[in-house]
Amino acid sequence: MSLCCKVPQCQTEPSRLPKAWMDAGTLPLPVLALRGAPFLCDSCLKRPIPCVQHLIPTKIPRTGKMTSNGAIVRHAQREDVPAILALIRELAEYERELDSVEATEEKLLSTIAFASSDKASTTSSGLPETEPISQQRPARCLVLFNETGQPAGMALYFYNYSTWRARPGIYLEDLYVKQTERGKGYGKRLLVELAKQVIAMDGGRLEWVVLKWNEPSLKFYESIGATRMDDWVGMRVDRDALVKLSNLLD
Ligand SMILES: CC(C)(COP(=O)(O)OP(=O)(O)OC[C@H]1O[C@@H](n2cnc3c(N)ncnc32)[C@H](O)[C@@H]1OP(=O)(O)O)[C@@H](O)C(=O)NCCC(=O)NCCS
Repeated sequence: MSLCCKVPQCQTEPSRLPKAWMDAGTLPLPVLALRGAPFLCDSCLKRPIPCVQHLIPTKIPRTGKMTSNGAIVRHAQREDVPAILALIRELAEYERELDSVEATEEKLLSTIAFASSDKASTTSSGLPETEPISQQRPARCLVLFNETGQPAGMALYFYNYSTWRARPGIYLEDLYVKQTERGKGYGKRLLVELAKQVIAMDGGRLEWVVLKWNEPSLKFYESIGATRMDDWVGMRVDRDALVKLSNLLD
């Protein structure tokens, strides 16, 4: 992202901004809540970059919830898609399945229910506020930004249902924290957000699957109170088998 805009009448060069922000090409989220600064530049549709003296930091970020070290968790907005795709690819690499990733920015843009960029992504009742969930757009994604505003982790999820309990729940499709950001409580923070949402919607379960060899993550999950479902075997029908099954009775 190039730095192109400034606060009107301010001729301070963007190069006078702190180096970390320049490298990031974006402002740390806590200072996005600038009084009077438009969210996007009208002419180039990029974020305005005010100089340091025009920054009006606020303790209440315009969107997202702040963690104790200044990191922020919020639902994904459209502009987060490149970061989400990068996190998906890093997770696939960690799981030694990078070649299997078919996700593209376009596909993510058309299948995730995004939050709007100018309001909080969670209502006071603890329920998310995004575009409507639908068959074509069934997923929501929480993104965690570290204290300098860099995407550090994500939790992509959708809703499921328990017949025995006759209650909705959340299925966590992917949880990932960048290697350099691990051990700071970010993974736990993302799971806490999802657990809060399950409670807020009067749901019954938060669940997911983990590769058997992924012992560090199994330990992490156990440390936050999850139990292994050793009696269950994951099953799936996809690709040719899916087409075959759909035609089985034709
Ligand atoms: C699993 C993962 C999300 C954990 O995120 P994280 O931000 O590093 O974890 P946290 O810092 O929030 O750790 C929370 C707690 O879990 C514990 N924990 C984390 N990793 C652990 C491990 N390998 N073994 C034991 N405990 C662990 C921490 O000690 C911490 O406990 P505390 O609150 O008592 O201090 C992260 O390591 C990751 O992305 N791994 C690679 C991708 C992956 O495996 N994703 C899951 C796919 S199903």
